[in-house]
Amino acid sequence: MSVLTSPTAALTKTRFDVDAVRKDFPILGTAVHGKPLVFLDSAASAQKPLAVLDAMDRMYRTAYANVHRGIYTLSDLATGRYEAARETIRRFLGAKDASEIVLTSGGTDSLNLVARCWAQAFLKPGDEILVCESEHHSNIVPWQIAAEATGAKVRPIPVTDEGVFDFDAFTDMLNPKVKLVAVAHMSNVLGTIMPIKRIAAATHAIGAKIVVDGCQGAVHQKVDVVDLGVDFYAITGHKIYGPTGVGALYGRRELLDAMPPYKGGGDMIETVTFERSTWAEPPARFEAGTPMIVEAVGLAAAIDYVESFGMEALHAHETDVLDYATTLLRAIPGLRIIGTAPDKGGVISFTVEGAHPSDIATLLDQRGVAVRAGHHCAQPLMVRMGVSATTRASFAMYSTRAEAEALAQGVERAMALLR
Ligand code: ALA
Repeated sequence: MSVLTSPTAALTKTRFDVDAVRKDFPILGTAVHGKPLVFLDSAASAQKPLAVLDAMDRMYRTAYANVHRGIYTLSDLATGRYEAARETIRRFLGAKDASEIVLTSGGTDSLNLVARCWAQAFLKPGDEILVCESEHHSNIVPWQIAAEATGAKVRPIPVTDEGVFDFDAFTDMLNPKVKLVAVAHMSNVLGTIMPIKRIAAATHAIGAKIVVDGCQGAVHQKVDVVDLGVDFYAITGHKIYGPTGVGALYGRRELLDAMPPYKGGGDMIETVTFERSTWAEPPARFEAGTPMIVEAVGLAAAIDYVESFGMEALHAHETDVLDYATTLLRAIPGLRIIGTAPDKGGVISFTVEGAHPSDIATLLDQRGVAVRAGHHCAQPLMVRMGVSATTRASFAMYSTRAEAEALAQGVERAMALLR
């Protein structure tokens, strides 16, 4: 059943007022080339609501000091806000304990942490890391580096022509040498929502671990890491309406306990002597140095903001805009949508006959429509789909059907100009 037809979605949809939401995002009222901004690149980075801007401003003005170090009131206050942010992320991801949430500088950092401190620490020559072929480079390259260092091997899990995770091919690849499976919750190019729960169950059945890149997935749907049964789940702040420079890694506590530190520095130790240092418990073990204090508070404000609408309501709204835009683009002769899985989040990648994706994006920009063009940091997927690049429109909680129309009209106009 589509979420749009579920009773909860119908209920929440009537409560979701996109015009009111747009007023919370100051940048959406600006113009580009004299045209109202139509921002369709939220998968690259989402815009920020006043709730986030105000929370960060307030923190700097009234509650800022370094954390975990001071014995004075302001440092206690800042530490309280930083740890409260961790608790908000724990609740958002459904983790059991806040110690399972490591604050990082973003999704890439979270995945590299797992590669360095789990894969590089525990993999042996001949071990296998299975990585879905639609992954972003940040969920491919860290595994290649870890494989290079340990003698393990990275093997791609295929996707179908529609961009669906090929579960049969995946199960055929499972064998006792597989120690890690890496997959995104939602593809940043195809929009496909991957069947994480099923993949996790199959992965655990052979005793391997699963790491999920949730940078796109956590923005568009409710996540529960315990229900999904994952070992690691990475998110980034800036795609979920929070600031840049902050993200988080969920890791099961017993795994984090066994892992060596990521970086050396202040705050991640228990004791230091010139002979030997010992490590703090997780999550501090993985948070060397002064962390991204105000950014963490901004991320928590972003999470509170999206949760105030309900993830189901946001999903229903974005699905409505996605479906409408898909219908409009499909009607354009010569346009091919890359990624036609039945279960998709708010992303449409496409190519058009006779025009380069960058030219389409440039002409759209002249009409105020911001989209991304290129390989989207997913070069192996481009090869799989037989294209060198795509144009990509991505939707967020503030996207509208009118913006979908502006996209389709802009593409048609660009195609006419480029012929
Ligand atoms: N990963 C981001 C994107 O897909 C930057 O655009």
